[in-house]
Amino acid sequence: MMGKRKDHYYRKAKQEGYRSRAAYKLLEIQKRFAIFERGSRVVDLGCAPGGWLQLIAAEIGPEGRIVGVDLQKTRGLPAKNVVLIQGDITAPNVQSMIREALGGEADVVTSDLSPNLTGIGFQDHLRSCELTRTALAVARELLRPGGVFLAKIFQGEDLESVVTELKGEFERTRRVVPRASRKASSEIYLLAQGFRGASCAGSNPAV
Ligand SMILES: C[S@@+](CC[C@H](N)C(=O)[O-])C[C@H]1O[C@@H](n2cnc3c(N)ncnc32)[C@H](O)[C@@H]1O
Repeated sequence: MMGKRKDHYYRKAKQEGYRSRAAYKLLEIQKRFAIFERGSRVVDLGCAPGGWLQLIAAEIGPEGRIVGVDLQKTRGLPAKNVVLIQGDITAPNVQSMIREALGGEADVVTSDLSPNLTGIGFQDHLRSCELTRTALAVARELLRPGGVFLAKIFQGEDLESVVTELKGEFERTRRVVPRASRKASSEIYLLAQGFRGASCAGSNPAV
């Protein structure tokens, strides 16, 4: 089946007990940039089946907290500090549920959100940009000043405008292409660090 080939990372995930091969993308980002710390409070948007949640839970330890959200049902995790919400992140009631479940400001908001792919690159890119902008709106509401936003996005002509938005709201924005991303995929990850605070939303980028 297209896109579901049993490649190296797929097999590795099976062997090592990760629920998704996507866990290796986040693992690489964590190794390079150390975005999670012991005790971090994290929101993971588009969390099913839960590979990222497994990794984040291990990095933050029992003193941290994670709220995972997905349209799909996510199987529970053994860690007690993981709260799962099944819902659409574009719905305002889901955003207030996240806020309540988090119990404070977030240190990190991650988004591995993917639209249902049509195979039409331009359409998939635009829908991915929409999801990333919604994830950014959630991050803006929840992040503490200095916090981190990490989001997957499919490349295309609107990418630069999303990067420009991030540059306006965070001290540093990078593009990261993990080795575990499939060669044929147009996905990249935007890593924005040093949130300037909700009052800066929409300001001009300091480029
Ligand atoms: C690539 S998967 C995430 C994999 C996950 N990071 C892991 O490691 O298991 C993308 C997820 O985004 C979810 N998604 C897409 N649109 C969404 C929306 N509007 N609200 C919530 N979840 C959404 C999909 O249901 C899908 O499970």
